[in-house]
Amino acid sequence: MSVHKEIKKVTTHVLQEMKRGGEKISMLTAYDYTMAKIVDHAGIDVILVGDSASNVMAGHETTLPITLDQMIYHASSVVRAVDRALIIVDLPFGTYQGNSKEALNSAIRIMKESGAHAVKLEGGKEITESIQRILTAGIPVMGHLGLTPQSIYKFGTYNVRAKEEAEAQKLIEDAHALEKAGCFAIVLEKIPAKLAEQVANELAIPVIGIGAGGGVDGQVLVFHDMVGLTHEFNPRFLRRYLNLYEEINTAVGQYIKDVKSKDFPNAGEQY
Ligand code: KIV
Repeated sequence: MSVHKEIKKVTTHVLQEMKRGGEKISMLTAYDYTMAKIVDHAGIDVILVGDSASNVMAGHETTLPITLDQMIYHASSVVRAVDRALIIVDLPFGTYQGNSKEALNSAIRIMKESGAHAVKLEGGKEITESIQRILTAGIPVMGHLGLTPQSIYKFGTYNVRAKEEAEAQKLIEDAHALEKAGCFAIVLEKIPAKLAEQVANELAIPVIGIGAGGGVDGQVLVFHDMVGLTHEFNPRFLRRYLNLYEEINTAVGQYIKDVKSKDFPNAGEQY
């Protein structure tokens, strides 16, 4: 029987059970109360308050500018909406790299001030000390490897990562290091499907992919991309389930016409 149907509240333990039972994990981003409510009520397993909020909510070119206070604002709006999903929050750029004490303080602020359930950090071996320190406070940690957007200025492009043998080998080693450090799951972003499947097979913890093929334990997409609110971002891995950009554009156009023509409001739409 599917774990998904039975569960009233998704926990990190439930995700482990899903992996063991071969049930794929569904995950989407959300950054605000209204959207998070819809996504949770539709039955999503995991909501990520991603630092992609920096792009889709604030209009920045990269994820680097978003602050810890802004992530806490988004996360607490999501927490107020959600009954069932596990809520994971990205630690933003500059709040954990190279300083495990700062990493712990940042994670504690997120948990205390937003009420979320776990945090996500980008990086491999170089951040295991921070992961272990966060875990000492009882805060579950998700890892993130492959294309890690906080390192965009090091990579130079948003192209597929780990196509070369040396980078693929490093990614495999990093994935094992994250599992050993105590991560309850990891995200693999934009890497070859074969490599992602190998990592998912080698690790006992769930591996969630974005642009990493179907051989992993679950999938995550950015909500605004999935429902077509954004329309300029068209990577091969993205499946759009709606074209809300066009639908909203048409609706707003009609509203403008109705206001200008005095069709709105009509007799039944006033007091
Ligand atoms: O910030 C984000 O939305 C993410 C996902 C792309 C995994 O990290």
